[in-house]
Amino acid sequence: MQGMPGSSGGAPLQQGEQEQREQREQQPAQHEQGAPAAALEAGNSQRQRPRVLLAASGSVATIKLAQLAELLLQFADVRVVATKSARYFFQDGELPAACRPVLGDEDEWRQWRAVGDPVVHIELRRWADALVIAPLSANTLAKIASGLCDNLLTCVVRAWDSGKPLLLAPAMNTFMWESPFTEQHLEVCRQLGATVVAPVSKRLACGDVGAGAMAAPADIAAACRQRLVASGFECGSRAQPGFC
Ligand SMILES: Cc1cc2nc3c(=O)[nH]c(=O)nc-3n(C[C@H](O)[C@H](O)[C@H](O)COP(=O)(O)O)c2cc1C
Repeated sequence: MQGMPGSSGGAPLQQGEQEQREQREQQPAQHEQGAPAAALEAGNSQRQRPRVLLAASGSVATIKLAQLAELLLQFADVRVVATKSARYFFQDGELPAACRPVLGDEDEWRQWRAVGDPVVHIELRRWADALVIAPLSANTLAKIASGLCDNLLTCVVRAWDSGKPLLLAPAMNTFMWESPFTEQHLEVCRQLGATVVAPVSKRLACGDVGAGAMAAPADIAAACRQRLVASGFECGSRAQPGFC
């Protein structure tokens, strides 16, 4: 993954643990060589093609993750983070090769053995120009609104740079959606600078009809693109009218 500390230009988090240890011993991570976080982040703003971190939590709408990843890849480099619950709804192999492997909580600890080793949620926070949480479960929404950070996804959010786009695409059963907690939690997130891509009404996977279904992947990708363009990125040549 180019520009990601500790990387050799590919995707450092794909490499085997032993191989990574050997590489770190032979060649210190980029930040250890004197490239501070600020310099890495300055480098981010000079790129034309943005980097999107796509994060999925435990909603049945995760079955649309591959479709959303494909759409984001049209204008951005994409990495994917998933919670343990999200992984029940898809197989890594369903995702485009360009955004694999999917990163999870275990990668935090696989990458870290000693002081100076990369900390994955901080590396991802530096790497990404935008964070898209889709689907956003009621549970992860509540955790974000409360500042909890007990897994890779919520650690990235807690460490997130509020100057970069953060998009939330909630997906939940209508009864969960209509709980007073939902609006309270979303309001906290909006105050933190998040853009909420509102869910839609339809027949849900559980059979209930009503609001709470995740917005269409095309609408989530378009909202992300819009926010990135507003941040100064070109978003590639396959721009959709009205979005770039
Ligand atoms: C089949 C199934 C479907 C679910 N769908 C949703 C959903 O659409 N939205 C939601 O908020 N929770 C849903 N849940 C509950 C979450 O998976 C559960 O709250 C979990 O703890 C979320 O963890 P996470 O936020 O760390 O991913 C579902 C659970 C099951 C078993």
